[in-house]
Amino acid sequence: MPLQNIKPTETVAWKKLTQHFSEIKERELKELFREDKNRKEQFSISLGDLSVDYSKNRITKKTMNLLISLANEVELKDAIEKYFSGDKINATEDRAVLHTALRSSSDIPVYVDGKDVKQKIQTALRKMKAFSNKVISGKWKGFTGKPITDVVNIGVGGSNLGPNMVVEALQFYKNKLNTHFVSNIDGDHVSETLKKLNPETTLFIIVSKTFTTQETINNANTIRDWFLKSATVFDVSKHFVAVSANEKAVISFGIDKKNIFPMWDWVGGRFSLWSAVGLSICLSIGFDNFKELLQGAEEVDKHFKTSSFEENIPVVLALLSVWYNNFFEAETEVVLSYTQYLAKLPEYLQQAVMESNGKDVDRNGDEIDYQTGTIIWGGTGVNSQHAFMQLLHHGTKLIPVDFIGFEESLYGLNDHHEKLIANYNAQQEALAFGKTKEEAHLDLKVNNQIDLINKLLPYKVFKGNHPSNNLLFKKLTPFSLGMLLAIYEHKIFAQGVIWNIFSFDQFGVELGKELAKKRLSKD
Ligand code: F6P
Repeated sequence: MPLQNIKPTETVAWKKLTQHFSEIKERELKELFREDKNRKEQFSISLGDLSVDYSKNRITKKTMNLLISLANEVELKDAIEKYFSGDKINATEDRAVLHTALRSSSDIPVYVDGKDVKQKIQTALRKMKAFSNKVISGKWKGFTGKPITDVVNIGVGGSNLGPNMVVEALQFYKNKLNTHFVSNIDGDHVSETLKKLNPETTLFIIVSKTFTTQETINNANTIRDWFLKSATVFDVSKHFVAVSANEKAVISFGIDKKNIFPMWDWVGGRFSLWSAVGLSICLSIGFDNFKELLQGAEEVDKHFKTSSFEENIPVVLALLSVWYNNFFEAETEVVLSYTQYLAKLPEYLQQAVMESNGKDVDRNGDEIDYQTGTIIWGGTGVNSQHAFMQLLHHGTKLIPVDFIGFEESLYGLNDHHEKLIANYNAQQEALAFGKTKEEAHLDLKVNNQIDLINKLLPYKVFKGNHPSNNLLFKKLTPFSLGMLLAIYEHKIFAQGVIWNIFSFDQFGVELGKELAKKRLSKD
């Protein structure tokens, strides 16, 4: 069954939220915390080793109740059921949306067009396990009999961003293989990568669902030409494998049929790192760690499916995002990870969030007259504090922030970690509570800047009242990363349901591709 078609702005909850917004928009976080000593406990949810504290948002209990009524009125529960059951909720492409099945350990079948997808998934996982074990152990040999030392993922968009981000994020768990990513059609990208590689010991994974994507096929052809300068066509099968749904095109590229890993039309590119698209992840950290990544995501899948909306992390985060986007008219959201390992998270989320929810036509085919997709950006703490955080503290825009932190560091440099966490907490506090005129006045006095008080005071005040969420995990592991990514995936889904849009197509990227092709055919 398709998703229901309910215009959010016509719900009773939306109207009530509009009224409620006028009561709340001037309220200060400082004051809300003063009024309610249990605010932190009241607005926190935990799941395993993760605690989500959303108390530093411009909300009251009433706001949350109204937002949850909105979720109920747009039938989010029904949508979640359909999402997990393989209903064709990607209606514009007539497809199911089943990245959740990729990490499901239950043996309850999920049917698409009468066929159980779980069996296909298990077969693919077994193939990934056998292949990665062979390559990592050195049993898989290159054309001169040497083991593989380097792996190159050739793909773009969802066939690059997810695996690329995860491989970097989990490098602490990596084995001896070096992993590289070639995505851009910019020839300098592929040239720089090849410069470091030895054809005898490099394995190339061409990842493309369609196997027609210009960037990927071009890069793959260039790489094959480079390889054939040292080897023969008979050696291609030892060095090139593919992840694709287009078997015919892969075979005609010269790849052995047995070296093709599947992709399915019920897994969207930006949600595909859990499938064989994650082969580079599996090679980099080994199959057992890859499995843990899937298990972490499954933990969140179960939570999303079964928890009440009040206790549901992705639902609460989605509702808060709608609150700022549609009522406060915030245009962007920042994601700040207090670990260098997650440096690529914003870029990955940009595709996941913006390709999904950047839509201006609703599920009725009508043009939308309210705001949809948020703009996501961010970086790592503390580096961002020395870059763009000035604008968040003192700028004129309202920008909600997700702070992502880890209680423990991986190498155990506790002195560093203490400072990192102090900054993590300090930023949340500064954004929420700011610094009053009186406090700033006192500081200037203490620092003996009495003559400068009048001149400097306005610049030393922090208005605060900037909202943030605090997602604190115990440690960065494959499992916790799986949890984090699944939270964002479900947040995206829930927002798409509320906004009454189709989150799983991406027609918006087509026009540019067509025009580029036309330009090339003219030359
Ligand atoms: O840019 C659009 C897009 O279709 C993405 O959604 C997708 O992840 C990417 O292109 C790559 O597509 P393919 O895997 O077919 O090469």
